[in-house]
Parts: sequence; C-alpha cells; structure tokens
Amino acid sequence: MKPSGKKWAAKPGIGDRLGRTLALIGSFYDACKVGYQGTEGYRKSTDLRKFAECIRELLAEGVIDPSRTVFTDLGCADGRVNVMMSYFVRTSIGIEIDPDILSEYEPHKKALLGQIEKASLEPPQDNIHLFQGSSLDDSLYRGVYDETGLRFADTDLFYTYITLHDVFAEKICRDARDGALYLVYGFHKVLPSYAGLEVLIPDVGGQQIAALFVKRSAGG
Ligand SMILES: C[S@@+](CC[C@H](N)C(=O)[O-])C[C@H]1O[C@@H](n2cnc3c(N)ncnc32)[C@H](O)[C@@H]1O
Repeated sequence: MKPSGKKWAAKPGIGDRLGRTLALIGSFYDACKVGYQGTEGYRKSTDLRKFAECIRELLAEGVIDPSRTVFTDLGCADGRVNVMMSYFVRTSIGIEIDPDILSEYEPHKKALLGQIEKASLEPPQDNIHLFQGSSLDDSLYRGVYDETGLRFADTDLFYTYITLHDVFAEKICRDARDGALYLVYGFHKVLPSYAGLEVLIPDVGGQQIAALFVKRSAGG
C-alpha cells in the first residue's frame, strides 16, 4: 500500500516528506504487530499510526524538541517506537528484557530502510540506542551511560505500552528528575493514577489511547 502523506502535510512541525516517512513507518510496523498475553509474558505492539498522532500533539505542545529531548522506552521490544521517535528527539533509548524480541530490531529496521530508500524518504536518525536487560535493574544504566553519556535522570520522556506501568511509575518517581514526563500508551478512558506523578495531558493525540504524566516534587 502506498503511504499517504496528505494528512500529515498540513500539521504543524511535520513537513510533507517526513509525514510520508511516518506513514510508511506506521504501515511497515503495523503490518507486523505482535499481541499475546500468557505464560511467556505480555507483549503488544504500539499502533504506530496512532502513535504518530501523539507525536504531533507532543510537538505542537512543545513537549518534545528534536534538539534536546532524551526519550526512553522502558520495554522497547523490536524498537519500533524508538525508530519513529528518532526523528523528534535528540536521543532515542530503548530497553528490552527479552533478547529474542530485541533481536528483531536489526532485521526489521533493515527491511524498513529498504522501503524508505525505495520511496526516497527520510531514514531514521542515527540516535537510537537499544539495550538488553531490565529497565528496573540499576546496573543496566551503567551500560546506557557508557554508550550515550546519559543517566536515568537525563531522560525527559519515558514510555511504556502498559507493561509494568505502575512499577515503572514508582521508579520514575524515585529516580527521575523533577519535571520528567511519562507517556503511558494503551489505556482506554479510565486513567491509572500514580503517587508522585500528575496527569499533564489526559488524552494525548485525542484517540483515548495515551496519557502523559509529569513528576512533580512534593513542594512543587
Ligand atoms: C507491551 S510490549 C511493548 C513493546 C513496544 N514498546 C511497543 O510499544 O511496541 C512490552 C515489552 O516490554 C518488555 N519488558 C517487560 N518487562 C521488562 C523490563 N523489566 N525491562 C525491559 N523490558 C521489559 C517485554 O518483553 C515486551 O517486549
């Protein structure tokens, strides 16, 4: 299917070529979505066409800035959200506990790059850093620092697709900087609440699929 950039071209912060690139990325990954829940754990894939709408609002609201923002997907799977976010952030970090799932990153990205090249669109930015391990394991962040020079507290925007959302919220509350943001994808209408985090945008992208929280200090 030929991606259509028309919808994107009119939106602020995303030009026609980038809009068509996002449409292609959405079509590519959404054609190989994964969804299971069972004894081997829980895995689902963000709908990247919906996620692109979230990006549009985050850009329009000044929440993300391609020259500054550090983004971390706390359970990144094949890194698809990292690939899409790479155009809109300074550094796109992903952490995945399952090495087999993480190993899908390179072949998927290679196939995607082939399609992007064929369509003369924009390749993902060279700012994606994926790590194997648990995002709850403090020692993992030594490897992140060695490769990127960034600590957990340098992340501006954390992300999860439901997975461990409440446990990740506790870590963000404990270890992230004041003002750090947490985008939780996958909730329909009824929002979770987290001690120490406030809702900043309850319906990012207007699709009842993602909410943005902010860490506030007790006094702030
Ligand atoms: C629901 S999937 C979401 C994948 C991807 N972020 C997306 O939205 O398409 C959650 C992923 O988190 C991984 N995961 C679970 N616990 C984790 C942990 N403690 N640290 C890192 N990754 C974890 C799972 O293996 C799974 O691949």
